[in-house]
Amino acid sequence: MRIEGYAVVGDDDRIADAAGQMPDALKNDAEWAFFQDGLDAADIVALGRRSHDVTPNPRRRRRLVLTRSVARNERQGDVVFWNPAVASLEAAVKALGYPVQHIAVAGGRDVFDYFLRPPHCYTAFHLSQIEGVTLPGGTGVFSAVETGGLTAAHVLASFGYSAASTRTIDTGVHVVTWAPDCA
Ligand SMILES: NC(=O)c1ccc[n+]([C@@H]2O[C@H](COP(=O)([O-])OP(=O)(O)OC[C@H]3O[C@@H](n4cnc5c(N)ncnc54)[C@H](OP(=O)(O)O)[C@@H]3O)[C@@H](O)[C@H]2O)c1
Repeated sequence: MRIEGYAVVGDDDRIADAAGQMPDALKNDAEWAFFQDGLDAADIVALGRRSHDVTPNPRRRRRLVLTRSVARNERQGDVVFWNPAVASLEAAVKALGYPVQHIAVAGGRDVFDYFLRPPHCYTAFHLSQIEGVTLPGGTGVFSAVETGGLTAAHVLASFGYSAASTRTIDTGVHVVTWAPDCA
């Protein structure tokens, strides 16, 4: 299973502002195109229940929605609600009834945390950074950004990931792709 994470942050590695919203300052056309291409390349998009609620799905992509509110996998059309504490990833994607070999992970924070470690660690984690943006009190891309005051790079390195490539996709917009030792 190929698992690719996609996050966009400012200089302080936050994915949302102090109100829990993704601000316009984190929106960039080149980064959006990069993100959309990544989602298109995958068979299914994994995301947290809150992101699912606030993110429209005009292209009707298949979604795997992480939530603690279900006791078993629940399928609603192209969406499967999955609680990792009670069901395996394999069972969840099987519930979709569609062959899944490639998952794009779209966040938010706890979902990005979840795929950091085996058994389902990222094949690649694409961290887009927009220079000059800070979101004080905002949501970290990983929980340790908030609780431990760590940078995203420190968190990724501490889980055994290394920066494999860096691309500048627009003025002040850089994508660092991290690759794990456990893939
Ligand atoms: N900049 C970026 O790259 C980026 C990426 C994603 C989202 N965002 C923004 O960030 C905000 C939302 O992010 P968020 O981190 O607050 O929320 P989120 O991850 O989208 O959703 C959180 C919810 O997901 C479920 N969940 C997460 N991890 C789980 C686990 N391991 N097991 C079971 N359920 C799990 C829980 O749902 P239940 O409460 O139902 O149990 C939890 O309350 C939005 O504004 C969104 O636009 C930005």
